[in-house]
Amino acid sequence: MHNPNYKYKVYPINQAKVEGIVEVSGAKNSVLPIICASFINRKKTHLQNVPNLNDVNVLLNIVKSIGVKSSFLEEQQEISIEEFNFESISINIESDDTRKIRYSLLLMGALLGAGIKEIKINLPGGCGFSERPYDIHLAGFEKMGCSVFEYENHIEIKAVNGLNPSVVELRFPSVGATENLLMAACGVNGVTILKNVAIEPEIIDLIDFLKKLNISIEFIDTRTVKIDSQNKRDIEINHYIIPDRIEAISWVILGALTSDEGICVKNIDINHLFAPLLELQNLGVDFKFENGSIDVKKSKFFNSSDLISDVYPKLATDYLPMFAVLLSMANGTSSIVDTIYPKRFGYLNELQKMSLVYLQKNGEAIIRGNTNYTAAEVTSTDLRGGFAALLAGLLSNGETIITNAYQIDRGYSNLVEKMQKIGIKIERMNA
Ligand code: EPU
Repeated sequence: MHNPNYKYKVYPINQAKVEGIVEVSGAKNSVLPIICASFINRKKTHLQNVPNLNDVNVLLNIVKSIGVKSSFLEEQQEISIEEFNFESISINIESDDTRKIRYSLLLMGALLGAGIKEIKINLPGGCGFSERPYDIHLAGFEKMGCSVFEYENHIEIKAVNGLNPSVVELRFPSVGATENLLMAACGVNGVTILKNVAIEPEIIDLIDFLKKLNISIEFIDTRTVKIDSQNKRDIEINHYIIPDRIEAISWVILGALTSDEGICVKNIDINHLFAPLLELQNLGVDFKFENGSIDVKKSKFFNSSDLISDVYPKLATDYLPMFAVLLSMANGTSSIVDTIYPKRFGYLNELQKMSLVYLQKNGEAIIRGNTNYTAAEVTSTDLRGGFAALLAGLLSNGETIITNAYQIDRGYSNLVEKMQKIGIKIERMNA
């Protein structure tokens, strides 16, 4: 994983029998904010069910650069983070690692929540499939009493007199902004009300973590949350990360496309999956949920459909690349609209190189069904686009090469091992 130039070679399923058990790891989008939130605790934090992802290591490196030690036992899926004992009121995060991940953004809210009054941090990086603004994050900090200065390469936040109790209304229920502001609110000496917040399961996981510090966080209505940290206590915390819902659906779709014998996808929280499972049912996917697992096998045919992504609890944008491959095998023409990232169609251009027929019209992708995928060299546009290319490779007539493969490993823990365990032939090749 240290060579960012490696590729994946994947062989078609006519050379393999896909069957067995695949276990879903902990959620990437939960563990990253919770690692940041550990700053708010001045005692040790222990996290379980941690996925083995490059982004986790990058974030832990940044955490180390500001003097907080941690250990990551990848096999045991555990992280221990030492207590945050920073006495100074200002922190300058100079590590270039902040540019490698979008979620370095969350260090701002976490440090404000930990009582730091001046923060200087390099601009964040990200997935690369879309512009990723952070105006909602910064507007929220300002509303809480911070002065925010944006420079070409870094951001400075100052709250010299502390954060004010306030009511902050987000102009859109952004996941990251909700997390940032929730954490910052833990540093307010009083009550904060956040309106129009995101309610993704990963947000609820962060709230469950913060509540262990005796911070009172309650929903007044579906998208309004009240935070009062006046009775906060520091305590050694154990927290089990929720299963990754996007990974879960990725494997279910893989099973539906490739497995005559069926695969069993384990570590499922069904409560997080209503929207995608309903869509899979409509498409004619043959699956059954029982005891925290989904059994799924290949269907004779799939129905076409028109899919629209939206904020949770509706269908997440991150499922769409995998759904697109399913739709490309359906009987008839389907369409996709991504209301969260309207231009996130780069992965379809890659699939086109493998004989997918689609066109973009007024923000809609129209996808022809019954595709006969042909093997090609394609690039992983982002982590989900990369998984979609793997799926198409399995359905193709030859060996598919996927460049930029490290992108896939940003979101899928132990991907090669998990795929090989269910019979898929995949190799990591150094460029
Ligand atoms: N937005 C703004 N301004 C902001 C923040 C967001 O205009 O200040 C816009 C974005 O441009 C986008 C929409 O709001 O159009 C949603 O963005 P959001 O802030 O909710 O996304 P995020 O927090 O940056 C998280 C996930 C993404 C996932 C999105 C949407 C993490 C680490 N990342 O990103 O996950 O696509 O929510 O659900 O939680 C992935 O896992 O593949 C991934 C990219």
